[in-house]
Amino acid sequence: MKKLFKIVLVSIIPLVLFSCYYDEFPEVIEDGDVVIDPGTDVSFKDDIAPIFVTYNCTQCHGASGQSPDLTAGNEYASLISGYVVPKNSSASKLYTKLVDGHRNVDANSIALIKKWIDDGAENN
Ligand code: HEC
Repeated sequence: MKKLFKIVLVSIIPLVLFSCYYDEFPEVIEDGDVVIDPGTDVSFKDDIAPIFVTYNCTQCHGASGQSPDLTAGNEYASLISGYVVPKNSSASKLYTKLVDGHRNVDANSIALIKKWIDDGAENN
């Protein structure tokens, strides 16, 4: 009986441990395209602004440098005044510029920016 209990335990533990596994997003598919779960809410504060920090965009896009100003606290106002067209990523310079290879931003980050713009480019 004890042995049976052990067997049951040993087979249940992995089930419990791995049952909550789900595919992480964004999911990269073979051709390099990135698919972000359409249900995902992309946050400007948590997802988009950190990209500018990671890539050190403010090295050139500072308060008195090249437009848009991407310094913390200024970046949303600066982007929305001409570089981002809400719900239209293909008309948004922030997106088209990065897709063109400006600063070699990774595909996941560009996909997040695209979704954020197409969802309405909110200051969320
Ligand atoms: C080494 C300096 C440098 C860095 C770092 C840099 N940029 Fe730029 N960026 C420029 C220059 C110079 C231009 C203007 C010339 C051009 O369009 O390429 C520009 C243009 C742009 C434009 C288009 C502006 C317009 O008026 O059309 C956007 C949007 C932009 N950058 C976003 C970014 C983002 C986002 C990052 C960080 C991922 C970044 N840049 C990092 C130098 C830089």
